[in-house]
Amino acid sequence: MRPYIVALFNQKGGISKTTTSTNLAVCLAAFGKSVIVIDLDSQGDSTKSLGIDPKTREGVYDLFINHAPVESVIRDTPFDGVRVLPSTYSLAGIEIKLSELQNSQRTLSAILANAKLDCDYVVIDCPPALGILPINALAAAHAVVIPVTATPYANDGLLRTLPSIKYVQEGLNKSLLLQGVLFTIHDRNKTARRIGDLIRSRLGGTVYRSQIPRDNMVIEAATAGLPVCVYAPRSAAAQSHLDFTEEFLDRHTAIAAKAGETVAPRPARDVALDRLLHWRGDLAAATGPTTAAGLRQRKSQLDRLLYGDRTLAERWHLGVIHFFIDNRLSLAVFLLLMLAGVIALLGASLEGLRRLSDIVGL
Ligand SMILES: Nc1ncnc2c1ncn2[C@@H]1O[C@H](COP(=O)(O)OP(=O)(O)OP(=O)(O)O)[C@@H](O)[C@H]1O
Ligand SMILES: [Mg+2]
Repeated sequence: MRPYIVALFNQKGGISKTTTSTNLAVCLAAFGKSVIVIDLDSQGDSTKSLGIDPKTREGVYDLFINHAPVESVIRDTPFDGVRVLPSTYSLAGIEIKLSELQNSQRTLSAILANAKLDCDYVVIDCPPALGILPINALAAAHAVVIPVTATPYANDGLLRTLPSIKYVQEGLNKSLLLQGVLFTIHDRNKTARRIGDLIRSRLGGTVYRSQIPRDNMVIEAATAGLPVCVYAPRSAAAQSHLDFTEEFLDRHTAIAAKAGETVAPRPARDVALDRLLHWRGDLAAATGPTTAAGLRQRKSQLDRLLYGDRTLAERWHLGVIHFFIDNRLSLAVFLLLMLAGVIALLGASLEGLRRLSDIVGL
């Protein structure tokens, strides 16, 4: 049977497309499904989050441009059942290359149709904005999931995203289904509730019941280069991702039933949780986060996150600036001391000049 292909798409950036893609993938695998993640974002965040270095030899760019076979590009991850077609940094230049090709909007469809994928699900992590890569994802997918954050700009993102999906449904992929809208990074405050209600009133049953709450564990997990469902399987965010995966599977089962197909039933949630905890244990044993090497690795990951490739002097400079931004009182004291120093220096210089003029008798 061909896999069910789902694209995670919203033209707005930073609303948890990648976090949802990787956690959906590991949760599906925890429920015993086999999954391929396609990372279409040159930032390579889902590639990294699944334990693969984006400086890897081959990636999606080679699939699209160099006709590399899927089998040579695909990589195993530390999570049984999850494989990835990774992003490499070269992906950043693909838009121009693809615009030179004919029928470039259907390149991914053709690649997937001709490959022996041997999996139950394909999860595509799209970059923000509507470029040729998200169009390729929507053209190849059976379904699209829109992650959305209930902030004042959420509506703008949706208002740009829904017409793009319609555009693909009317031309490139008539069977593309909007499987659902998922609230992510969800806050429990009045504004989020009001915006959430507004979106629900417009989209009704399309919105999933599950919501992913804002949870610092997600950021800690990203720092450690892991999906939160593996890093902290019992955290609020991980539990909500499991809820979402169950709802996603239920919706897929209903869609398949309408088409006269069947989806293998999933095991109980405890089985999935046990598997996530097992991966967590394996990784803790492998990386030893409490050992000196583990801590050094964690520190260098944090440094990379904060400073990128900056030199030591640039990091020190940034550190000083951050210190003063965080401690405005210290900045005021520092400026006052500097002022006092300048005044004292000026006074001493004037006194020196006066004495000199006395000596030389001017
Ligand atoms: N539930 C959550 N709670 C707190 N932080 C979160 C949550 N989900 C995601 N984040 C954080 O929000 C940021 C954006 O998430 P993510 O990278 O998944 O978004 P994205 O939509 O893929 O972004 P982009 O458009 O740049 O690809 C990341 O720092 C991530 O760790
Ligand atoms: Mg992303």
